[in-house]
Amino acid sequence: MGNGIAHTFAQSGFKVNLVDVSQEALDRGLKTITTNLDRIIAKGNLSEEQKAETLGNITTFTALQDAVGNADLIVEAATENQELKLKIFGQMDQFAPENCILATNTSSISITKIAASTKRADKVIGMHFMNPVPIMKLVEIIKGYSTSKETFDSIYEMSKTLGKVPVEVNDYPGFVANRILMPMINESIETLYNGVAGVEEIDTVMKLGMAHPMGPLQLADFIGLDVCLAILNVMYEGFKNPKYAPNPLLVNMVMAGKLGVKSGEGFYDYSDGKKAEKVAKMFSK
Ligand SMILES: NC(=O)c1ccc[n+]([C@@H]2O[C@H](COP(=O)([O-])OP(=O)(O)OC[C@H]3O[C@@H](n4cnc5c(N)ncnc54)[C@H](O)[C@@H]3O)[C@@H](O)[C@H]2O)c1
Repeated sequence: MGNGIAHTFAQSGFKVNLVDVSQEALDRGLKTITTNLDRIIAKGNLSEEQKAETLGNITTFTALQDAVGNADLIVEAATENQELKLKIFGQMDQFAPENCILATNTSSISITKIAASTKRADKVIGMHFMNPVPIMKLVEIIKGYSTSKETFDSIYEMSKTLGKVPVEVNDYPGFVANRILMPMINESIETLYNGVAGVEEIDTVMKLGMAHPMGPLQLADFIGLDVCLAILNVMYEGFKNPKYAPNPLLVNMVMAGKLGVKSGEGFYDYSDGKKAEKVAKMFSK
């Protein structure tokens, strides 16, 4: 998600300082951005010159404090882990200029909680981009309890300059997108777990029957099964409602390291570029 967000800002003319924990992770991110820019060129929607300008707008850093000294806006898109995000926001608050807005791309963690860990809760906001970021138009703009109107207005307007369609959302677990999407994905996994139908059958029903561009199990693979599990757990805890309890098959797959596209295997097999159906090993109860 971080490379997609950096790509989108850079292609819109913003100077971007991209931070990750290692040079290898940054190189992987830049490689993905280059590949995605080439795809846009192949479709005739970008010139080689614009690609060079976009890449020229991105500088990489492995230390946050070196990257944020002159920032007007920071969009945090690290791993979906509350403790990690609170730690990163502490550093962002310490090293970024006083007026810098601190945004998070979190899929589910409370913006209000993240904001409360800083000394500028009025300048903390959610910017929930969709995957793949350069293509998907939606960005949920999430107001924490203390987010000021000024912060909200400036991020809402700025999102339009990225070519996105911002939607105003209040800060409750899962926001809007995942509150509706994740129960559907979880129910698809439950349907598989109960032996009602196979992976491809479930996805085909939703693609051809509901006109979804991608079946829910393949979408889960693309999002990352660990991310899906983390979001369901936040909603389960946040609402204290068993309807959000993650299905045991999802829990088992994450424990086994089957995280979807990023690990090479989830509900489908992505090794060697294949997307053949993968019958989950823990299919039966
Ligand atoms: N995957 C999706 O479809 C999706 C969609 C919308 C929002 N999100 C959210 O975006 C965020 C990132 O998701 P992802 O799927 O890209 O996760 P990911 O685990 O694939 O990538 C996270 C990146 O953060 C880096 N990172 C970890 N700790 C860091 C630190 N201290 N400083 C800098 N970088 C650090 C990791 O090295 C990695 O490159 C999460 O909050 C997630 O909920 C994900």
